Amino acid sequence: MQLWKGRFQKALSKTTNDFNSSISFDSRMFREDIEGSIAHSKMLGECGIIEKEEAEKIGQGLRGILADIESGSLAIDPEAEDIHTFVEGELTSRLGDTGKRLHTARSRNDQVAVDLRLYLRREIANTITLLNGLLSVICDKAEQYAETIMPGYTHLQRAQPITFGHHLLAYGEMLLRDADRLRDCERRMEVMPLGCGALAGTTYPIDRSITAKLLGFDAVAENSLDGVSDRDYCIELASALSIIMVHLSRFSEEMILWCSHEFKFIELDDAFSTGSSIMPQKKNPDIAELVRGKSGRVFGDLMGLLTVMKGIPLAYNKDMQEDKEAIFDAVDTVKMCLTAFTPMLDTMKVLPQNMRKAAAGGFINATDCADYLVKKGLPFRDAYKATGEIVALCIEKDLTLETLPLDEYRKICDVFDEGVYEAIGLERCAYERRSQGGPCPDNVRRNAARIRAAIAEKA
Ligand code: ARG
Repeated sequence: MQLWKGRFQKALSKTTNDFNSSISFDSRMFREDIEGSIAHSKMLGECGIIEKEEAEKIGQGLRGILADIESGSLAIDPEAEDIHTFVEGELTSRLGDTGKRLHTARSRNDQVAVDLRLYLRREIANTITLLNGLLSVICDKAEQYAETIMPGYTHLQRAQPITFGHHLLAYGEMLLRDADRLRDCERRMEVMPLGCGALAGTTYPIDRSITAKLLGFDAVAENSLDGVSDRDYCIELASALSIIMVHLSRFSEEMILWCSHEFKFIELDDAFSTGSSIMPQKKNPDIAELVRGKSGRVFGDLMGLLTVMKGIPLAYNKDMQEDKEAIFDAVDTVKMCLTAFTPMLDTMKVLPQNMRKAAAGGFINATDCADYLVKKGLPFRDAYKATGEIVALCIEKDLTLETLPLDEYRKICDVFDEGVYEAIGLERCAYERRSQGGPCPDNVRRNAARIRAAIAEKA
């Protein structure tokens, strides 16, 4: 059924109809479409634009349609132009003329805008729940490995010793910001477009505050042209989702590195790894690789949305129908990635002895050796230079800072004494980094507790 038949003599050809139609992807908004229509009809009744009894019948009819779609007894017609057309058509076939009154003082342009906001608002809440689930696994692991020494890297070169808990909590901070970004985005989404009509509001005496209240919006769009053609909230959400994917992708990359034979810091559970069809020894981190790879889709969705919106004149243009597949894909992908990633992290086996072994090579405690000299009164630059010479000497003699004899130390700088060996002990190097934000176990425990409290407070 088409809603706009009157002016036309011919129906659309099948291919044109398929091209024009959005039902294949907007039918997922059936709940929101019905919810929006129930609120709209109620407002029409309260404002005396339609009879109260008719508004009541429309509400009942819409609730019936919702129940039937949910129970599976009513199938959404794939030939309908979009979900709005389908629901209105179904209502009219159930209620006759009364159903035809629903679209008074409304356009599909403000209708689709409200549906999408309602839908995305829910999806933001679902995504935050998934983010919180991952955050809580991160906190569990961080507490469990608060004292586990691992090498910290810059340029993927061993740099300074840290704790594994601290490393994990870096992702905790990122994801905490991500949840906050989603909440921000949701806050700006709380503006109701219904009542903007096609583009220019309406001459009917509508009361938009009634609809806004019924649908739980904080405010109404104050400019009708903007109200129907604003898709900032999709772009903003796709952007927040893209940043989540950046974080998940980096985390995945580290998991992939860590479970390689070169690192061997972790082992992924069999349930989250796959084998090779030819190489019997292989255990591949496919799930982490897929999460890393899927980041590309979400960035693509963001680019698609920006590009669709950048050149269209006010107000609604059909180009905007392209918003849905992009934003739905971005939301679906992020939810799917979080759902796959969380149990993978939760079930990974950590190999602390390998982390420690890696931390013991590569002169990771050289900064601490220099700091030891500074504590004995040397200016940092001189201490740095002396330590550099000591490292060079160790490399030449195939020794480490721990195994270089004291007399060799003293040949380079006579300030060294026996205390140096204690000062460069790995545990000490990591555990004494107690500055705020540093990797010591107390900080890890404190920050894990802080993150847990933040989740609980905003839940
Ligand atoms: N299916 C359309 C969309 O998703 C609904 C709005 C249609 N409005 C119109 N004037 N053709 O954007």
